[in-house]
Amino acid sequence: MAYETEKQNAAAAAMDYVEDGMTIGLGTGSTAKFFVELLADEIADGLLVRCIETSEQTRALARSLGVPLIPFEQVDRIHLTVDGADEVGPGGVLIKGGGAALLREKIIANASDHMVVITDPSKDVAVLGAFPLPVEVTPFGYTITAKKVHEALVNSGIERPRVELRKAPQSLDLLVTDGGNHILDCHCGEIPDPARTAAYLSGVPGVVEHGLFIGIARTVIIGTETGARIIEY
Ligand code: A5P
Repeated sequence: MAYETEKQNAAAAAMDYVEDGMTIGLGTGSTAKFFVELLADEIADGLLVRCIETSEQTRALARSLGVPLIPFEQVDRIHLTVDGADEVGPGGVLIKGGGAALLREKIIANASDHMVVITDPSKDVAVLGAFPLPVEVTPFGYTITAKKVHEALVNSGIERPRVELRKAPQSLDLLVTDGGNHILDCHCGEIPDPARTAAYLSGVPGVVEHGLFIGIARTVIIGTETGARIIEY
């Protein structure tokens, strides 16, 4: 599969940030999966960590590999979170949520001392927005919220956005997130000012969270065929 080696190498480089005794947030997606698998190997060899999952998908993976999970509510400190991204722009600003896990991902990353993003070169972009920006909305009033989200995108400087309700895989039904909400995929083309767009989106009632992660990632690891390029912010 394309980028497989790069993703694996990024995940391997993220293992350098793991220390005994840490509480670790586990991301969601194909790159984060590599990290969970590597972590499971180290745990089998005696590494002592406890983890918090960012999705039901990652919970199932972690449990199947014997990675110890603890309820988020019982945690007062998360030392490290390692997660993938759909796009990484200048300054380490991210688009996340391609896997529909953005709400838990953002809560956990934002609560962590250190977020490490692991990704492949295809996600490294000069301007965010080619990847549709996911926005999580409440089921109540979602059609009106979608219109207001469109308005907010235009007002934030995006020229001709297209807002699409995400369907569940292989289904005509709307996707329902782990939090019981829906996802609007916002096709923006380019997001010239992510902070402005984030502020406009956060101001729309019915928006639970958006996939712009600003000022959260401290380390971005871009896997390569032979190793990894590491950017610290
Ligand atoms: C999940 O909701 C997303 O934020 C993922 O982190 C993102 O989609 C990256 O996934 P891949 O590692 O599979 O590209």
